[in-house]
Amino acid sequence: MVVSQTIPQATDPSHLFDGRHALIVGASGGIGRAVARALAGAGARLTLHGRDPARLARALADDPERDLPDQSLRPESHTGSSVDPPAAQGVSQPVETVICDLPFDAVLDEGRGEAGDSAAPSDASQRLQNVVDVMLKGGVPDILVVGYGPFLERSLLDTTAAQWRALFEANVMLPVMLAQRCLPVMQQRGFGRVLVFGGTGTDRIAGFRTVAAYSAVKTALMSWVKSAAREVGSAGQHANLAVNAICPGYVATEYLSRETRERYARRIPGGRLATPQQVATAALALLDPGSTLMNGVILPLDGGTRS
Ligand SMILES: NC(=O)c1ccc[n+]([C@@H]2O[C@H](COP(=O)([O-])OP(=O)(O)OC[C@H]3O[C@@H](n4cnc5c(N)ncnc54)[C@H](OP(=O)(O)O)[C@@H]3O)[C@@H](O)[C@H]2O)c1
Repeated sequence: MVVSQTIPQATDPSHLFDGRHALIVGASGGIGRAVARALAGAGARLTLHGRDPARLARALADDPERDLPDQSLRPESHTGSSVDPPAAQGVSQPVETVICDLPFDAVLDEGRGEAGDSAAPSDASQRLQNVVDVMLKGGVPDILVVGYGPFLERSLLDTTAAQWRALFEANVMLPVMLAQRCLPVMQQRGFGRVLVFGGTGTDRIAGFRTVAAYSAVKTALMSWVKSAAREVGSAGQHANLAVNAICPGYVATEYLSRETRERYARRIPGGRLATPQQVATAALALLDPGSTLMNGVILPLDGGTRS
């Protein structure tokens, strides 16, 4: 005889983030967009940052895999399985947007320019301050997710001083300064989540042949995560605060060229890149208001391939 049993749901996943305000920096594509969609599906009120208003406006509405350039390298679909975060369809909460074109691309592409060689330190600090002001113009969120984190694939000796500075400013200074403004307010409120992203394999100190500068700055960011977690953790468990990071393996975002995707796929057992949605599932677990002990976590999300 088959006895059907209803398993009680502790919390409805579509209301997990009700009443919480999340700011996602870099929400118009890739991992940031997947996290935004997941948070929206779980009830959060969103402020989404991007540089292109039209692209940002479509971030929650569109198929997250719409920009992947080719079908053959698409990761396996997990539609309907337990790994999918809640869908963002039918988002009823208001969505704010912040448009801000961050000034690091030209420097990273060309190896010289404003964010590096010619910018005086005081100019760079002021520029960063301005960016932080723009990002937080809607107020300090309860949840800060910094998805934006530009990549540079270049040998160590070919990496210019300007590129080092731009990588550091974009991948370390920007999230750190945003968090520095948010954490005191979160501490006063007794609730806050900060989530940043490391690079592939930067959950430990290691050497890298072609992504040395990018990996070095991401490793620095991971060290900051540990220190910030200690700082907010010192308030004890009654203050529900957490600073965490995810170090994804290779993820199939629209920012990787076909050639790069093929090259990375060859390095992975099974030959398939992760999906942004898989990363978003883990992100939601770290951001969950009920996850009161997950602070200072640096989560490698590579299917165990670098274990
Ligand atoms: N993808 C991977 O395989 C991988 C692996 C390990 C770690 N990570 C890390 O995971 C995080 C998310 O990566 P991701 O692959 O989703 O892509 P990403 O390139 O780091 O972030 C994409 C987001 O940043 C925005 N953005 C890019 N340049 C900008 C600029 N100049 N001004 C303003 N916004 C800009 C994009 O806007 P547009 O939509 O307009 O381009 C998009 O919203 C990053 O920190 C990355 O370093 C990624």
